[in-house]
This record gives sequence, C-alpha cells and structure tokens, in this order.
Amino acid sequence: MYHEFIKPFPKDFLWGASTSAYQVEGAWDEDGKGPSVIDMGKHPEGTSDFKVASDHYHRYKEDIALFAEMGLKAYRFSIAWTRIYSKGIGEINEKGIAFYNDLINELLSHNIEPIVTMYHFDLPYALQEKGGWSNRETVDAYENYAKTLFKYFGDRVKYWLTINEQNMMTLHGAAIGTLDPNIENLQKELYQQNHHMLLAQAKAMKLCHEMCPNAKIGPAPNITSIYPVSSKPEDVLAASNFSSIRNWLYLDAAVFGRYNSIAWSYMEEKGYTPVIQEGDMEILKSGKPDFIAFNYYSTSTVAESKNDPSDKNSTGDQQIAIGEQGVYRGVSNPYLEKTEFGWEIDPIGFRSTLREINERYNLPLLVTENGLGAYDKLEEGDVVNDDYRINFLRKHIEQAKLAITDGVNLIGYCPWSAIDLVSTHQGFSKRYGFIYVNRDEFDLKDLRRIKKKSFYWYKDVIESNGEKI
Ligand code: BG6
Repeated sequence: MYHEFIKPFPKDFLWGASTSAYQVEGAWDEDGKGPSVIDMGKHPEGTSDFKVASDHYHRYKEDIALFAEMGLKAYRFSIAWTRIYSKGIGEINEKGIAFYNDLINELLSHNIEPIVTMYHFDLPYALQEKGGWSNRETVDAYENYAKTLFKYFGDRVKYWLTINEQNMMTLHGAAIGTLDPNIENLQKELYQQNHHMLLAQAKAMKLCHEMCPNAKIGPAPNITSIYPVSSKPEDVLAASNFSSIRNWLYLDAAVFGRYNSIAWSYMEEKGYTPVIQEGDMEILKSGKPDFIAFNYYSTSTVAESKNDPSDKNSTGDQQIAIGEQGVYRGVSNPYLEKTEFGWEIDPIGFRSTLREINERYNLPLLVTENGLGAYDKLEEGDVVNDDYRINFLRKHIEQAKLAITDGVNLIGYCPWSAIDLVSTHQGFSKRYGFIYVNRDEFDLKDLRRIKKKSFYWYKDVIESNGEKI
C-alpha cells in the first residue's frame, strides 16, 4: 500500500538497543555467578568463548555513558539467572542483585528505560544437570526466579520480557548452543521442554501483574513472515505450515493460552505432542501479555515438501530454515541479497511481519532485535566506517514507519546490538554493535570502546525521532 502521508514515530517511542548477559558481560564466574549451559557448552572451532565477552560487567558505567551520549531512550539487556541463583534455585546471591541494581540505577540516572529479558538462552547448568526444561521442576525454579526479579527490581523496571527466542531454542538449539546433547527422542523432548517453558512464561506474566501492577510484560520470540517460493498452492500451504510451526505456536500460546491447531496437528503427525497435565491449559490461559516483543532479522522462504529426506538441510540457524520431511523445504529467496554471514536482507519483510503480528494479536509491538552482523574494520584514527549497517538499519526504520502508517501499534525499536558482543555461534568477528570493542576472537587487546559511524547516525535518528534517517 502506498501512503501519501507517512505518520511520524510516536512522541514517546522507545528508541533503544539490545544485548544479552552472556554475550556482553564476561565475568563468567565472578561474584558468586554459577555456570550456565552456555558456559559449559562447546564453542564452534575458531570462535571465542563467553568468559570475558565485552567485559561489560566491569565497564557498564562507561558503556551506559556512551549509550546516553547516543541518546538511547531504552536499553534492552538480560539478567543472568546464574548471577541471581548460582544453581538456578536456592540461596539468593546478593552480589548478583547488587550488580543489576547498580546497572538499573545507572540507566535511570541517564533517563534510559530498562527493558529486561529474564532469560536469554543461559539456563543455569545445575538445572540442566537435573534435566533442564524436560524437568517440570524447572518451571517452579523459573517462577521462583521471576518472583525474585519482580521483588528486587519491579519498583523500577517497567518492561519485562519472559524468555528470549523460545522458538529458536526449540528449533535451532544446536546452533545457538542450548541443546542438551544427551537428550533421547530429541524432537518429542524439545516440544515437552517447550510446553514447560510456556507454563513458566504464563506463570511469570501472571505474577508480574500481581506484584508489579505498573509494569508490562510480554514474550520475545523470533518472528518472521514466511513466503511461499511461488504462487503454486502447494508452496503456499508449505509456507502456512512453517509459519504455524515457527511463529504462531509460540504467540498463540502466549496470547490466547492455547496451542495453534496446525502446529498441534503437525506434532501429532510426527509423534511430538507434549504431555499436558491436568490444569496446564488453565495455567496457560492465566497469563496474559501486555505487548508482544519480537526479534526480526530476515524473512524465510519455503517450498512444497517432496516428502523425502532431501526436504531437510544438514544445518540451519535462527534465520536459515532446516526443512522437514512432509512439511516444507527451506529455500533461498532470489529477490533478496544476503549478509556476509548468509542471512537474507529483507526490510519490506519487516513491514509484513509487523503487519501480520498486529493483525493476529492486536497488541502493542516492541522490536527487541534487528541488525546486521558484519566483519567491521577498525581503521587508522579509531574509525569504523560501517555504512552497510547504517544502510541496513535505515531501510528497516523506513519500513517500521510505513508499518506505523499502516496502523501497527509499534512502541519501540531496539536494534541488536548496543555494543559489539559475542555472536551465538559465530564468535566476536561477527559484529553488530554501534560501539566497537577492541578485541579479536582470542586476543583480548585493550577492550577499548570506539564509536562507529553508525553510532553518530543513530544518535541523529533518535534526536529527530526518526525523521532524519
Ligand atoms: C538472536 C539472539 O537469535 O540473534 C541473539 O537472540 C543473537 O542472542 C542474535 O546474538 C544474532 O544472532 P548471531 O547468531 O549472529 O549472534
């Protein structure tokens, strides 16, 4: 749809940027922090571990000063569960509480709204040893953890995100490093884990409303429009299959408290249905989100399944569909360019994704990730000319504006990432930040912070409330 008049961004729009604890903080075993599944996992060869990351734990004041200089209105970060409870449950670690108290206070002193992800891939390893999300006790541990977060930080945090990319943990746990290699009957178990996470999320949403009546809470999956490779009806059906399995299963459960019927029939067909105990569906219905947060990097294109093993690729990740026999085949989209890391670039798909979510759920939307991973080059005089990133973000912001004009209630945009950090599975060289961190994959150098060209550009975007892009 063409619009003659383009609506401006709302006055109180949350211009932000994002990170996650394990990818940015470092200090992986300091001040009482316990190990998480990420700390104990294997890292792909040639890529950094997460022990030091960007050393944000020790440099958060300097970093927040830079965020303030960039003009951020919001900062979306995650709390490491293992800093609050080293074993996921049990005794509270006061030093962990103190760290996040200081971080939140520092943000507020700069008028930056904290947007807190409660759990971003880094499940406490002690819980994993007891079965992780396969074990229903993890639901109770998460509820207890949520209660602690609301109790200690709920007076100041107004935006909470329950679980980051639950759908990617279910579909691509191997790539992002959350998959327990010892699981038997993998797919079935993953959907059982998913069911438990849905229960945990519903409980947290209910609890948040009871304990922090002025706060808002929502899920944060990775959502994207799914295109059929052609107008052939079979391709269109394949896209509908994948959309239900990848997107709507998670959001229907979060918003309506029920399973998406197409995703459910898929699980039945494959023998993946979770065990649902009496009372579970009531629990799901009891938690309601105030908004939907979602991460968007790219769209996905699929074709009709050939119903043979060739439907499945050998690898995949958050943005590269693996495919599944009898359901859909992941294909590339000939109309889209790709990043250096093979993810398709689709700003218009961002507008369609916003419109689709808006139409299905009619809730405020908050974009919690969007960005370009690239091999940035530090030039003479501490300069990083990341025009490609500016170009990527500009095109997405333009589409966000069009989506607002289309009628979408978009309340904020938090690109990934505020500062360089370690990628989930492609190391430190895959950079996303507005701020360069001077380290290599294995050589930590001096970790000094350098403002990239995109830093200055984003500052102008925010200052002009999205008019000057
Ligand atoms: C999202 C995650 O999937 O994508 C982030 O929530 C992640 O944790 C981001 O870093 C970019 O992916 P990657 O694999 O390039 O780090």
